[in-house]
Amino acid sequence: MKKVVLAYSGGLDTSCIIPWLKERNYETIAVIGDVGQGDNFEAIKKKAIKSGAKKVYCLNLQKELIEDYAFKALKAFALYEGKYNLACALSRPLIAQKQVEVAKKEKANALCHGCTGKGNDQVRFETTFRLMVPKMEIIAPVRVWEFKTREEEIDYAKKMGVPVPVTKKSPYSIDTNIYGRAIECGVLENPWNEPPKDIYAMTQDPQKAPNKPEYVTIEFSKGTPKKINGKAYGAVELVNKLNKIAGKHGVGRNDNIENRLVGIKSREIYENPAGTVLHLAIEDLASLVLDRESMQFRGQASQKYAELTYNGLWFTPLKEQLDAYFDKLHENTTGTVRIKLYKGTATVVGRKSKYSRYKESLATYGKGDTFDQKMAEGFNHLWATPFMK
Ligand code: ARG
Repeated sequence: MKKVVLAYSGGLDTSCIIPWLKERNYETIAVIGDVGQGDNFEAIKKKAIKSGAKKVYCLNLQKELIEDYAFKALKAFALYEGKYNLACALSRPLIAQKQVEVAKKEKANALCHGCTGKGNDQVRFETTFRLMVPKMEIIAPVRVWEFKTREEEIDYAKKMGVPVPVTKKSPYSIDTNIYGRAIECGVLENPWNEPPKDIYAMTQDPQKAPNKPEYVTIEFSKGTPKKINGKAYGAVELVNKLNKIAGKHGVGRNDNIENRLVGIKSREIYENPAGTVLHLAIEDLASLVLDRESMQFRGQASQKYAELTYNGLWFTPLKEQLDAYFDKLHENTTGTVRIKLYKGTATVVGRKSKYSRYKESLATYGKGDTFDQKMAEGFNHLWATPFMK
């Protein structure tokens, strides 16, 4: 029998994959990635074994997800198509990387995922696999297997002794980790339909959010968030804490029509309370400490970073080069941003930094003005000169 390492979620698809592979002479080593989806991992481990897995690894990847993936993307101001904080896209290369590590350790022959042929995730897994272990076989059962409907799949599960879910399947496809939640399918597939209230889990309905605004301060060191309201937190705790605070005020929802890499447009609802506030805060602090040219130039790099991440190209040279660029860019992004949260909105109301380039004596229209207005005359003259006939 050959050995295959499967990214296992505990859902019906990845559970059926195990006996399906066995029928094709592969024994499965299941890898469960805990990225903060809040599942019952003990139950999922048992389910993997019941479904026929030879061995199960359950890996807590939350710290790596936030420190090595999410906070890098944050420093890059990376938002896909200007909106999506890439929560799901960031988790896939991480899980794939872990699968490769397990595969090497277990001397496995193949890698496997449960993604369909219509999404981005297959690309993120397989590109990572191919770049790390170019020769290893990759199996994507859901793209090729014989089941046309969920009923057929359930019949197969019953036949093969795979535990079948007793609860009714949610009409939605949901992907969750600590950095965000993505919801699609069901009534959301019609882009005209307003998202039902019950699809949300990380954010309060803005209408029901507290009537009093709440202020939160976020302190950054070189572009990385370190403190909330003056208190230091580890990366994971910081994100959890901020998810709670911002989520309570209904901050971080967004409704997107998005362009998938495979050419399909999809409608996705995102919830990312912490990510929303962090992006707002770093953007603002950067505008305080960066000179004009640095501030204005970075846009293209950010867009590229988001596209590389979305398109599964995390482990590529350009992504690494851009990390180095953003590390340099953020040498002075140290300081504090004050944000007001209120019924679904997050608004920056204050910012400070010891590296601030803001000079009140130049900006002021009041007392203490040091700006020499006479100098502006010559400047204005020269500014137009190259274009004058
Ligand atoms: N559209 C997002 C992405 O490609 C999320 C994909 C998973 N979404 C889901 N609802 N299962 O990164």
